[in-house]
Amino acid sequence: MLSEEKNRQFTQVGAGTPMGELLRRYWMPIAAETELDDRATKPVRLMGEDLALYKDLSGQFGLVERQCPHRRADLVHGFVEECGLRCNYHGWLFDETGACRERPFEDVIFKGNESVREKARIKAYPVRVLGGLIWAYLGPLPAPELPEYEAFNWPNGFRQVILSEIPCNWAQCQENSIDPVHFEWMHSNWSIRLKGEKGPYGPKHLKVGFDEFEHGFLYKRIREDTDEEHDLWSVGRTALWPVGMFLGDHFEWRVPIDDENTLSVAWSFQRMPVESEPFVQDRIPYWYGPIVDEKGEWISSHVMNQDFIAWAGQGRIADRTKELLGRSDAGVGLMRRRFFEEMDAVARGDDPKAVIRDPDKARNIALPIVHADRYHQGLTREQLIAHPVLGRHIKGYPYQYGQPQALLESIWDAAGIRAEDLGLKAPEMAGEME
Ligand code: FES
Ligand SMILES: [Fe+2]
Repeated sequence: MLSEEKNRQFTQVGAGTPMGELLRRYWMPIAAETELDDRATKPVRLMGEDLALYKDLSGQFGLVERQCPHRRADLVHGFVEECGLRCNYHGWLFDETGACRERPFEDVIFKGNESVREKARIKAYPVRVLGGLIWAYLGPLPAPELPEYEAFNWPNGFRQVILSEIPCNWAQCQENSIDPVHFEWMHSNWSIRLKGEKGPYGPKHLKVGFDEFEHGFLYKRIREDTDEEHDLWSVGRTALWPVGMFLGDHFEWRVPIDDENTLSVAWSFQRMPVESEPFVQDRIPYWYGPIVDEKGEWISSHVMNQDFIAWAGQGRIADRTKELLGRSDAGVGLMRRRFFEEMDAVARGDDPKAVIRDPDKARNIALPIVHADRYHQGLTREQLIAHPVLGRHIKGYPYQYGQPQALLESIWDAAGIRAEDLGLKAPEMAGEME
């Protein structure tokens, strides 16, 4: 339970709020790199700030405030030039540093008078591309290093990016990253009930444990079907600080749009069979996953869709003054405490947890992985199709509803597999995520 005051501090992301200032110390994924091949500009709302993301004709990305400083036109409707983004209303041109490069009419009237343009500088934030994602940093400069997770560099994998907007505060989404017991109920048992069956239910949790490390927290579990030797206890799953989760074959980030909305960004890796090696992906595709169906009902068929239902169901901003925590929430408590301590660190002027300043330390960061062999060690096509988990994943994206059929078919092409080899009718749901 948190007091009303603490709950506000914990959830508010605007500039100048304690959590907003803490979260501004980290790079946040805001788009797929390839989205900007399909459109030159993209509206981005990040931590309550309205911004225009663009890629200019020279390939440079920029992230600038959304309203033009002239008469407030929307720069998302602007058009890109060799260098920068031009407002479509009267043609003012801005570069990725926020400098105004042209004010066409005033440039005629005040020939060569630089100060006319200098007055029109706009807010601009650093943007980087890594792992097929576009990352933004809204905090004080100099920006820290952008962490390059080792998974981004794994060879022979097919990657994809999935984006969805969830109508609730980011913090309740991130608390889900350190909540082992929900897998048993929300994913295993509820999935069984959703199929109209009453059982048998999935294995019960017998023990959970939590550890903190440099890049976040680990949660560990022993269920009826596993023991202390199993990776799920000896390694654990990673709640990635501050807004992520890493599950070996995918990352999930819960990026704050504003106090009441969150962008779910997922990055998935599928190891291609050895016959397809060396597999080099020249373009990482993306798709937007719907969260409700045509009737407006929540989609509940896939693991992350189930999570979205839980998060949004807690309310726009979960009221933590009314919750009753149990023993399974020890990790949630640890994470909250760490957030409050790190807000204090920022207020003191210190770098908070997991901010990296040394470029060497930001390169190829290895994270703990359960079932590491599934992503490193290639299988033959035949073994892949027969694999109890990977064999299901190759039939369709298991974690979220809505993968475009053409994308799925491009994965089969890359893997040299045909739908008939999979005996496939419709993409099946995978209730096996642990
Ligand atoms: S409003 Fe943008 S140039 Fe006039
Ligand atoms: Fe979940």
